[in-house]
Amino acid sequence: MDAREMKIKAAEAALAYVEDGMKLGIGTGSTAEEFVRLLAEKVSAGLNVEGVPTSERTARLCVELGVPLKSLDELPELDLTIDGADEVDAQLRLVKGGGGALLREKIVAAASRQMIVIADETKVVDCLGAFPLPIEINPFGQKATQIAIETLCSKMGLSGELKIRGRADGSVFMTDGGHLILDASFGRIPDADALANQLNAIPGVVEHGLFINIASLAIIAGPAGAREMK
Ligand code: 5RP
Repeated sequence: MDAREMKIKAAEAALAYVEDGMKLGIGTGSTAEEFVRLLAEKVSAGLNVEGVPTSERTARLCVELGVPLKSLDELPELDLTIDGADEVDAQLRLVKGGGGALLREKIVAAASRQMIVIADETKVVDCLGAFPLPIEINPFGQKATQIAIETLCSKMGLSGELKIRGRADGSVFMTDGGHLILDASFGRIPDADALANQLNAIPGVVEHGLFINIASLAIIAGPAGAREMK
């Protein structure tokens, strides 16, 4: 089974949790897009759901495939969010934001009664941090914010490079909300809960990619099929 087939397997298993009439949060990334494709098939066969997209990219795909969309202001309380992740640990703590959508992803997941993560087994880790942690920052005072993050990290014994995310054409990556992303390569984050709390205390940090106590189920696909982590 190749990487795409594993993503499809995880997305298929998640679709079993979608019920008629549900209000759904719809994630961002290549795995979430497989879910959107399968959901669109069910919608065209008569499933009645409404979705809140977590990015402009996801919104475009949903519109193209005919998945009905609403804004989070129109549907502020959601039944279920289904989204991918860059890393998942045994406590269902996540690193997200590889696609740069972490702020809307976290807002949408927090507005949902349940968040299900879909991923292939390469995303399961013993310790978070091998994937660079995306930290969304306000462009105002970006250097001061970067220094504050570096100071915090060195106090916490975390060392690694912090890099403003760029695009392939050399321009700076801007999120849907008009913010920058700092990717922090730590290697290992021994105390993810403490780091999450302390990052939230830095004023220029809009949000970070540590999702803690948000997901309640992960569907992990491997060559042998999909399994659940709770
Ligand atoms: C986007 C995300 C994605 O869910 C995460 O990057 C995983 O993406 P993929 O399914 O393409 O590996 O957090 O901000």
